[in-house]
Amino acid sequence: MLKSVCSRAVRAAALVFALGLVALGQAQEGKDVVIPDGDYAKLVEAQLKVVQEGLKGAKEATEKDQVKKMKTKARCAAVMIAAAAQDNLAGKDGQQRATVRDAALNLAALVKGEKYDEAVKLAGDLKDLKEDSKAKKEKVKLYEAHLDLQEVMSQFKQPKAGGQGIEKLLLSLATDKKKVVPPAAINDALLSTTYQIALLSDLTHDHVPAKDKKDWDIWSVDMKKGALEMASQLKAKDGKAAFAALNKLNTSCSACHERFK
Ligand code: HEC
Repeated sequence: MLKSVCSRAVRAAALVFALGLVALGQAQEGKDVVIPDGDYAKLVEAQLKVVQEGLKGAKEATEKDQVKKMKTKARCAAVMIAAAAQDNLAGKDGQQRATVRDAALNLAALVKGEKYDEAVKLAGDLKDLKEDSKAKKEKVKLYEAHLDLQEVMSQFKQPKAGGQGIEKLLLSLATDKKKVVPPAAINDALLSTTYQIALLSDLTHDHVPAKDKKDWDIWSVDMKKGALEMASQLKAKDGKAAFAALNKLNTSCSACHERFK
């Protein structure tokens, strides 16, 4: 009797231990996940809108320079969809995410090749794609393979200049006299933007400057930390803490630019 109680206790302990390991394994796999699953679709939706704006702009533009800006805008947003999709390939919708990632990169290639009509169609279909069992569930390299540093940074510029107006938004939020992100500004659009910045921080981190890679890494990691902290404070609806994180984020931009830009 005693023996069987003991062995049951041992078995129970072993089970607890094994479950602990599974949890630990999941935590480790998820270690680099930037976007909570519940916020992923919103970011994809926001970037799809930017792709469509860019495509429309590129089709309508008459000047070469403007065509280029609008193509960059559409292509950057497509690559950000790819980055968001492959941010978590280990979850239960990993195969679907890998499918979206591949399609988003095809979309970027169509934009580059100025196949606008095909691009518009693929952008329209992207959210409801049928899962492709052949899509690889490993991350693919995006930095340099699809975007260079100037293109990564171009997302911060004004919409007319081929960007998404993010820099102006961050700087204007930082002028708040009460030093808070006001309740009216705490919305899904801003939350998506902070996740987007975290994703593009990873692309920035992959860049190797001519010198001082260590400093480069510090500021690109600061940018990511600031963005993720801002995201979590926005989710908590803590305007004051979100403002503090915003300032950290803005400091990472200016510190890096002072040295490297
Ligand atoms: C780790 C370094 C680093 C960080 C952090 C960084 N940048 Fe940059 N940024 C650069 C460099 C370098 C350039 C110049 C790129 C080039 O022209 O090739 C640049 C260029 C830019 C440009 C001009 C892009 C263009 O097409 O002319 C904008 C706008 C910009 N950054 C905004 C931001 C904002 C906003 C942040 C913070 C949220 C930020 N950057 C964070 C390094 C950084």
